[in-house]
Amino acid sequence: MQTALLTAFGAPREIRELRIPEPGPGGVLTRVAGVGACRSGLNVMSGRSRDGPGTPLVLGHQVAGHVAGLRRRIVLAARTSEHGVVRVVSSRSTAELTLSEATRFRTLLDRAFEGRFTDALWRQALGGVHFFVEEDGVPISHASVVPRLLAVPDRELNTGYVEAVGTRHRDRGKGLARSVLAAAQRHIADNYKLGALHSVLPTFYEHLGWERWRGPTFVRTRSGLMRTETDDGCIHIWRVPAAATLDLDDPISCEWRPGFVW
Ligand SMILES: CC(C)(COP(=O)(O)OP(=O)(O)OC[C@H]1O[C@@H](n2cnc3c(N)ncnc32)[C@H](O)[C@@H]1OP(=O)(O)O)[C@@H](O)C(=O)NCCC(=O)NCCS
Repeated sequence: MQTALLTAFGAPREIRELRIPEPGPGGVLTRVAGVGACRSGLNVMSGRSRDGPGTPLVLGHQVAGHVAGLRRRIVLAARTSEHGVVRVVSSRSTAELTLSEATRFRTLLDRAFEGRFTDALWRQALGGVHFFVEEDGVPISHASVVPRLLAVPDRELNTGYVEAVGTRHRDRGKGLARSVLAAAQRHIADNYKLGALHSVLPTFYEHLGWERWRGPTFVRTRSGLMRTETDDGCIHIWRVPAAATLDLDDPISCEWRPGFVW
């Protein structure tokens, strides 16, 4: 990559080719489109200020550009809590989780669901992308999106299915699940034809823009379509443009999976 390198304080900058860096863990590589020149940078160039890492130096810390590479954790959004604490929503695919990270998510969910979060529910939360907020390295809110194939009359829809939504007890009511779900919804809009989930907390999701499916629910099995009456009224969808015309009163089916089919 081409850079304007300051080789000595007060010296003119030199155009040099440098190796493109690899993003470190949790890092993002940005292809720079523009960079601001600020007073502190000009002071360094003129030799008036010698604070900082020393030469050789690539100046410019107000950078705008495009994400050209990333590693492991993607920071999707940051919001400041009422105490001035920055809450960052990150994402990570299941394949990239270390065992200890997976264990920390599981511990959060076990506690959030007060012992009702079973191994089957955990398995169903794996295989996609996890969205989470951490505090001091500990996850305090989580949701994951896994790929599924839902079908309505005459149509199959690649669906981002939301699983394992939970927030640590003492952090509830601070908008964390809302932030995590907003990131999950953006991921669904970018990658799927529909968002869906199963919940017995209708008001929570409807409040966030999800719509409750009114039609009958089914599961597709080797022996054909089977009714799943107990799940009727529990399925919620998030419409992306491809799902704009879906009729909430139509029948809807999911592919069979072990554990809870919906
Ligand atoms: C449900 C849960 C994830 C909410 O997490 P949270 O971080 O407190 O949620 P938020 O603060 O982002 O709340 C977002 C909105 O939903 C509302 N809300 C929160 N919990 C709700 C609930 N149980 N029922 C209905 N609405 C709820 C909030 O009032 C808020 O609305 P507002 O923005 O108008 O104030 C959390 O209570 C939890 O972990 N529960 C146990 C696990 C669970 O039931 N998960 C959902 C399974 S489908």
